[in-house]
Amino acid sequence: MVTRRGFLTGAGVLAGGSALAACASGEGVASTSVELNRLATQTVPFDGTHQAGISTPLQSGLNLVAFTVRPGVDRDGIIRLMRLWTEDARALCAGQTPLGSLEPEMVVNPANLTITCGFGSRLFDIAGIADQRPDWLHPIPAFERDQLDERWGEADLVLQVCSDDMVTLSHATRHMIRSGVDYVSTRWFQSGFLNTNGVLGKEETPRNLFGQKDGTVNPRTDEDITQAAWIDEGPEWARDGSVMVVRRIAMNLDTWEILDRTSREVSVGRTLDTGAPLTGTDEFDEPDYSATDRFGLPVIDPVSHMARSRPAEGHPEQVILRRVYNYDLEPDPTSEELSNAGLVFICFQKNPDLQFTPIQQRLDEADRLNQWITHIGSAVFFMPPGTDPSDPTSDDFWGAGLLQQ
Ligand code: HEM
Repeated sequence: MVTRRGFLTGAGVLAGGSALAACASGEGVASTSVELNRLATQTVPFDGTHQAGISTPLQSGLNLVAFTVRPGVDRDGIIRLMRLWTEDARALCAGQTPLGSLEPEMVVNPANLTITCGFGSRLFDIAGIADQRPDWLHPIPAFERDQLDERWGEADLVLQVCSDDMVTLSHATRHMIRSGVDYVSTRWFQSGFLNTNGVLGKEETPRNLFGQKDGTVNPRTDEDITQAAWIDEGPEWARDGSVMVVRRIAMNLDTWEILDRTSREVSVGRTLDTGAPLTGTDEFDEPDYSATDRFGLPVIDPVSHMARSRPAEGHPEQVILRRVYNYDLEPDPTSEELSNAGLVFICFQKNPDLQFTPIQQRLDEADRLNQWITHIGSAVFFMPPGTDPSDPTSDDFWGAGLLQQ
């Protein structure tokens, strides 16, 4: 099996830049299409210790769908749904036709498809296991600047579907919604997109719609990801799972564009072109927060987004695994704004009370970016650990350890 990471790093045949250069000069078109065909059929292993789609390299398309459990569905119903969904997701992610599907042509290009499932707080009540609900599974506390719309609020279940092929993404999402229809109805649907860097074989940090590289400082090594994202205490059924916080954040592109480039860079603390900290030259240079300019002022503004979002001193646990997508919808006819754009801000962690919330508390109090962004949606989900039917110690469907105790 060819993994995307293998494709990106071991691509001996074609490194991204040279592939494009070769294309531009008319050479290597045939081998480029071979590579793209390979990407189309590439799969991310569905089963494993952790669910795929959390630490998996970003695909270019996202559908994040939240559900309400239908009245009358009890724990047995949820177990039936989870068996069904896990089987279907496993097939789709392997490029195979799920049982009962009449559309085998629609699944042959998984293009790194991942389908990841999460449980909202109310699911514990519906399943009659409210006493098992972890302390951290509750809505994120309200912040001063929030303008949350219930439309993007808490839900019973969530599916995060990601792929590098937009037709596959759409088909897989629809298949999952349809196969769960006896048990759940769709509560909200958030679509997102990113640069097709992965598709082009480029290992570049994608840009958000403010034009910034977004995702530079993020846990990358297995050790850092383990530290930030995988639950390692509490009941056995939660271990190796994670917690997803979703914030829908509107970005006002009209007022942002009034700013000159320098002010845009100061607001985050990084340059727009390379994404380097204002004290460095390379994107991944370590920022120097103590550096001052010739007037004695800090080069990286202490109220810049990066200064405010980094872990507080003495709190190394304040790290989240960000998996952030852009959205861009039709402008609101009642608003003067030219765009209706922003971020589907998804992040994973062990415990939002110790990770997302203290970071957001600081940002809410002071962050230069606040002038152009507004949080309009919020939801929290427990992401059960991975599945593996071939391993007797592992769950064979999502949440089996929790639901079958
Ligand atoms: C529309 C809203 C937002 C935008 C446009 C934005 C943009 C950015 C950009 C451009 C960077 C610097 C590059 C990077 O390291 O990725 C960054 C860093 C970061 N952001 Fe955001 N962000 C937003 C919201 C948030 C929120 C809500 C949180 C969490 C509560 C957050 C947490 C972080 C963290 C932890 C970093 C890395 C900080 C470090 O250098 O240690 N961001 N963000």
